[in-house]
Amino acid sequence: MDELGLAFSAADYANDRKTHILLASTGSVATIKLPNIIASLGSQDKFSIRVILTESAANFLGGQSAEQPTLQNIRQMNGVEGIYHDEDEWKKPWVRGADILHIELRRWAHVLLIAPLSANTLAKMAIGMADNLLLSVVRAWDTSGTIDRGKKPAPKIFVAPAMNTAMWKNPLTGRHIETLETSWGFQSETDGGWITVLKPMAKELACGDVGDGAMEDWRKIVKVIEEYCEA
Ligand SMILES: Cc1cc2nc3c(=O)[nH]c(=O)nc-3n(C[C@H](O)[C@H](O)[C@H](O)COP(=O)(O)O)c2cc1C
Repeated sequence: MDELGLAFSAADYANDRKTHILLASTGSVATIKLPNIIASLGSQDKFSIRVILTESAANFLGGQSAEQPTLQNIRQMNGVEGIYHDEDEWKKPWVRGADILHIELRRWAHVLLIAPLSANTLAKMAIGMADNLLLSVVRAWDTSGTIDRGKKPAPKIFVAPAMNTAMWKNPLTGRHIETLETSWGFQSETDGGWITVLKPMAKELACGDVGDGAMEDWRKIVKVIEEYCEA
């Protein structure tokens, strides 16, 4: 397999005049919309994209259908600088002075979009778990905007949950979303916080159930990111 997620130092890209979009997908069927999101953002020269996939998410992009290209195909798309998996953290035995991937990705990113956000990763985020690459980036996020110079106010994380209606209606989901929106979303009245939840919509889901829980339309998600990056 090609090297999709090469090691890199964020400092090398600090003056590339691009807006750095860190784009993550987790193990929801809506991961098949990732190529659309990348094609749309990647068509604009001002954006540079790095992708993180959880182990579950990668299963949806294996070239099994026209709308599910391989990761090698996605790596070739305009604007895509790398695709990262959990094992990329440990590709080289770490020694003092070596870059740490989840920190470099955090430093590099001007914005993080997690689309789709699974019930599992949502729950882990809400309780602060950091047991994979994506969750380590989230847990190491510069929530005060004071750690990575020149990035004040805190760079934002946007999440687009997507799950079965029963998962979405589970009381735990409500509590986790509330944590993201109220504890993290409104740090102060002026900056509006560092996380925004793009709520799911109702439609017939991939499993046949009809109801809430489908990921927000990918075009609307792209628009939100574009507007944030322009502001
Ligand atoms: C075909 C398939 C579709 C799935 N779709 C969803 C989904 O839409 N939303 C969700 O939260 N979980 C879904 N799951 C379950 C997650 O993949 C599972 O909870 C997994 O542990 C998520 O891991 P991650 O959060 O690390 O990506 C699906 C599983 C399978 C096998």
